[in-house]
Amino acid sequence: MSVQDLRIGVIGVGMMGADHAERVVNRVAGARLVAVADPDTARADQLAASFDGVRSIGDPLALVADPEVDAVIIASPGFVHEEQVLACLEHGKYALCEKPLTMDSESSLRLVEAEAKGGRPLVQVGFMRRFDPEYAQLKAMLDSGQFGRTLLLHNTHRNATVPDTFRSEMIVRDSLVHEVDVARFVFGEEIVEITVLAGTPTGVAAEGVLDPQVSLFRMAGGGLVTSEVFVNCRVGYEVRCEAVAERGTVVAGQNSTGIYSTVADERGGYWGGQVPPDFRVRFARAYDLEVQAWVDASRRGEVVGPTSWDGYAATAVCTAGMESLATGLPVKVDLADRATVLGGAAR
Ligand SMILES: NC(=O)c1ccc[n+]([C@@H]2O[C@H](COP(=O)([O-])OP(=O)(O)OC[C@H]3O[C@@H](n4cnc5c(N)ncnc54)[C@H](O)[C@@H]3O)[C@@H](O)[C@H]2O)c1
Repeated sequence: MSVQDLRIGVIGVGMMGADHAERVVNRVAGARLVAVADPDTARADQLAASFDGVRSIGDPLALVADPEVDAVIIASPGFVHEEQVLACLEHGKYALCEKPLTMDSESSLRLVEAEAKGGRPLVQVGFMRRFDPEYAQLKAMLDSGQFGRTLLLHNTHRNATVPDTFRSEMIVRDSLVHEVDVARFVFGEEIVEITVLAGTPTGVAAEGVLDPQVSLFRMAGGGLVTSEVFVNCRVGYEVRCEAVAERGTVVAGQNSTGIYSTVADERGGYWGGQVPPDFRVRFARAYDLEVQAWVDASRRGEVVGPTSWDGYAATAVCTAGMESLATGLPVKVDLADRATVLGGAAR
């Protein structure tokens, strides 16, 4: 620790926020966790007490305003992100906001505009796939030009299980949103149209929940992207993608982990690897790299990684995707003009 360490507060200490808090304390250089906040004050108190010198602050907005907090990780539910990111902008604090940036494209656009008006980039959105070593390598390989133009991308996104409160629209807004960002990241362009289809749901999904879903994105340059999202697959957290280009293909996340083993048990000998139980395991390295990049950039006075515009664009695609889910028809993505919105603040 040094006096220049970035003093971090974490808002929302459920699964993701607690994981980020532990990461800041144990695995991120140049940063110090100083405070956590959650309306579930017992949960925040308990987490704070598990570390040295971390305060539990009852009101998340008071944490943002606290003079001893330099930068904020927002890991609260999406419906409170708007007011919390706005508070960070008002107080001039760097914010790493978990996805989705907000719940609909209008509120996300308001944040992009507010940040641009302030004249200083402060927001990074938690699309950590961009920091995953395999996804980053896939992107670098495609960008090298050796494969020719990228034509297609196939994403797979499976969770073992979700709570019954995780409804059909959330599969689009909270899960598919990652694949939306992957498509924009890999192609380096916007998505212009989305179709979301649901077939016969799995018998283990909650009543009325359309799971799995398959979506098709049309990219501005003519590329196509398919994404399967299946949040009650029962097996584990499987996330991968395959890019198809003019002279070859590149796959990221094929085996979910690099581990390959043989094992003998009472049934005989088996070969294979392990499917990670959840996102915290599958993307542990990506989250570490994401938060480290955010800390390093904040200390330099910069923002790197997915911007508020990326958060807005992804939300706009998902807003169209929720409409498509309801009708089964392709829906055009309604996106503001980037140059007009960002003006000189374009990044
Ligand atoms: N990047 C990823 O891979 C990833 C994975 C999971 C979740 N997330 C995102 O992280 C965020 C949190 O998800 P989670 O899975 O940890 O949810 P969770 O339900 O486990 O935790 C949410 C926490 O936020 C608290 N909370 C509720 N209202 C709040 C408020 N106004 N201010 C502050 N905290 C509040 C709740 O009490 C709870 O402790 C969501 O935006 C989610 O989409 C991202």
